[in-house]
Parts: sequence; structure tokens; C-alpha cells
Amino acid sequence: MDPRPVGVFDSGLGGASVLREALTLLPHENYIYYGDNLNAPYGDKTEAEITALTFRCADELVSRGVKAILIACNTATATCIRQIREKLEVPVVSVEPAIKPACAADGTGKVLMMATLATTKLGRYLELQSRMPDPGRVINVPCPGLVDRIERNVLADDAFDDLFDRFLSPYHGMEIDGIVLGCTHYIFIRGAIARYAAAHFKGACRFYDGNAATVRQLARVLEEKGLSNDAGSARAEFCTSGDEAVYRPIFNSLLSR
Ligand code: DGL
Repeated sequence: MDPRPVGVFDSGLGGASVLREALTLLPHENYIYYGDNLNAPYGDKTEAEITALTFRCADELVSRGVKAILIACNTATATCIRQIREKLEVPVVSVEPAIKPACAADGTGKVLMMATLATTKLGRYLELQSRMPDPGRVINVPCPGLVDRIERNVLADDAFDDLFDRFLSPYHGMEIDGIVLGCTHYIFIRGAIARYAAAHFKGACRFYDGNAATVRQLARVLEEKGLSNDAGSARAEFCTSGDEAVYRPIFNSLLSR
């Protein structure tokens, strides 16, 4: 039994959607969340910039005594998960776009994978896509601008149509079997995406995200390495590189959504 907390990291507040899942599925652990809100969004930055920022955040969590790190950021995973794993001594579990279950689902339509610009063009994600039975079924949709709004606590169902029109209008009228939320921020605007999808696409438009599978993987890794805790109380400490007075209330409200 290891009472040390698990470190959860995201460029900003999107990782709260993964932490929320962890608090439910692993309530006997404690957590430290680190949001790099000062530098969000990562998705429009270069590979070198994202790598440097991710390393800094991981070091910050390690210096706070975490026993494992949960990277709750698809962009950081796509950019530098291999280097992070090589460098850190603690185990690292990370989220990535859930295209596998989406592609396994029946249907003759397409799968839309919505993510940051960086995720959609980086090797690690493209390699994952190439391993799907029919990679051409997946349409990658980079969505710059969504994260900036979500970081400002804009979440209303009708607050994103201008941006959706920009990214999604080429696919209007298409049969869409699944929509992959390939950025942890997007979980919080699922309602807005569903509303837009109902108005513009045909097909089932079932949603997929990698959060629950990632937390189950965290449970397996903690168990295997003898790091589990059965006496924690789902305590979650919030840390940010940004203005805490601004981000803490938004973080708390996202956790309880
Ligand atoms: N929440 C993040 C992700 O899952 C990153 C968003 C960003 O900073 O651009 O990709």
C-alpha cells in the first residue's frame, strides 16, 4: 500500500474530465492535479515547445512526491510520451484518442476524430490510425480555438457553432457513425457537439473518449507495481502555472459537472 498521490497533468483544465473519472473509479487514491494554464493551449505549439512544457510539468509533479503520473492530455501523449517514459522513474499512464472502439463499431459511415492541431498531425497518433482495420474511415478534424474558449469557462451548447462551421462544414450531410473526443477539454462540450451533429450529420454519431480506459490502465499499473492505496479518500489538490484565483473555481465546477 502506497499512500503517495497520483499526479495528473494537462495543458489546462481538460484533464479534469480524466480526474473526474479517476475519482469515481479509484476513490481510494489521492491526486495532485497540475494544469499548465499559463501556457494553454498546447495544440497550436510546435513539437519542441510541447515537449519542453510537458517535461517541466512532469518534473513539477515528481518534485511534489507523486508515485505515478497520469497524462490527461492527448496532445502531450502524441508529442512526447516515449521520451517522458524513458526519463521518469515513476510509471506514466496517458490518454490517447479512442479511435479503436470507434472503428470497431458497426456501420458504413465515417468516424470523426476531433482533436488539437498537434495531435492530428503527429507521428504517434498517425501510427495509431494506420493500425485501424480501415484507416480511411477516420476523418481527422483539427479544432483550433475550442480549448481557448473552454479554458475561459465557455461551455454553453450554442457557444461554438461558428468554430464548428469552420471545421465541420466539409462533412455536412455525411453519415457519421462515431465522433471521437480526442482532446480531454472536449468532454465538457459534448452537448454542444451533439447538438451540432444532430443538425448537420446523418448516422448514429456515437461518442467515444479514452478517459475510462486510461483510468483502468492506471489501476492495472498501480496494482502491478505494488503502488495501490486502499486508504486514500479521493482527495484532489489543484495546482496551476496560471492565476489560481481564476482557474481554481472553474476547475472545481468542471469536476462536479
Ligand atoms: N486537453 C488537451 C488534449 O487532450 C490539450 C489541449 C491544448 O492545450 O491544446 O489534447
